Amino acid sequence: MTFAEQMDADVSKIETALEKYLSRETGEGYDRIFEAVKYAAMAGGKRLRPVIVLAFCRLCGGDVDKALPFACALEMIHTYSLIHDDLPCMDNDDLRRGRPTCHKVFDEATAVLAGDGLLTAAFETAASAENLPAGTVLQCIRLLGRAAGMNGMIAGQVLDMGAEHREISFDELCLLQSLKTGCLLWAACELGCTAAGNDDEDMLAKAHEYGERLGLAFQIQDDLLDIEGDTAVLGKTTGKDARDEKSTFPSLLGAEACRRLADDLTEQAARTLAGMPGSDFLIWLARRLMGRTK
Ligand code: IPE
Ligand code: IPE
Ligand code: MG
Ligand code: MG
Ligand code: MG
Repeated sequence: MTFAEQMDADVSKIETALEKYLSRETGEGYDRIFEAVKYAAMAGGKRLRPVIVLAFCRLCGGDVDKALPFACALEMIHTYSLIHDDLPCMDNDDLRRGRPTCHKVFDEATAVLAGDGLLTAAFETAASAENLPAGTVLQCIRLLGRAAGMNGMIAGQVLDMGAEHREISFDELCLLQSLKTGCLLWAACELGCTAAGNDDEDMLAKAHEYGERLGLAFQIQDDLLDIEGDTAVLGKTTGKDARDEKSTFPSLLGAEACRRLADDLTEQAARTLAGMPGSDFLIWLARRLMGRTK
């Protein structure tokens, strides 16, 4: 199997599981919330974070089926963050994953609740993981909470909103982006190791570093695509960061320096795992993301 085929197979596995987790019975009169959640979650995202969970689980010799609840939980948290990120009170976006945003199709209140529903379902899903020691499940749940919470992704979103219409330093920008995007990526890496039962400190530190570097490179690409991308391919409206005077890597460094920095960070991520048996897929993945168009 090629790496691309491996990725496609993992994405299918994740989509099937995600659909199952989000298809619990609905109650009379409130189907709309399930519709809104499924609209946002089953809309064809890249599934990068859950793919990374499975890849690290495999790298650590674990059974990927046992890691699936954590992979799906992380994708639910990511999708909730996108629904809320698109709301008029945040980035006010009309297009996501190639379709009108959740609040456009439903309404703002339903979109807020769909985000809340996904965040809550994520923890229920993670806690329902089977055939793993309770301590492992607990560790994974704690990891999810830490990465997504007020010292993690939420902190990044707070800093992002506070950095509109003003210039911030390079260090402030790195912190903002590491929290906003990096946290869910290092969480993906660590979740894979933990679900596989690997609690070796050196391995977890390497997984964390890979995720952090990849997260920064990924956000630089995201910022560049907002300027140079094609809305039809990207599935998001371009030019919004400049319109909203967001603090981004290109706004601070310019596009050329950004590309060099993203290249550097990608190679740093790759080096973290170099020489580790079975790490080829993750090294390939990091490099492949560099040329992404969506
Ligand atoms: C978008 O993430 C938001 C960022 C953190 C940059 P993705 O580019 O992974 O979005 P999907 O899941 O593929 O839609
Ligand atoms: C979103 O960052 C990060 C989170 C949702 C945590 P952006 O605002 O840059 O993402 P896009 O460009 O809307 O996907
Ligand atoms: Mg945003
Ligand atoms: Mg946004
Ligand atoms: Mg963006």
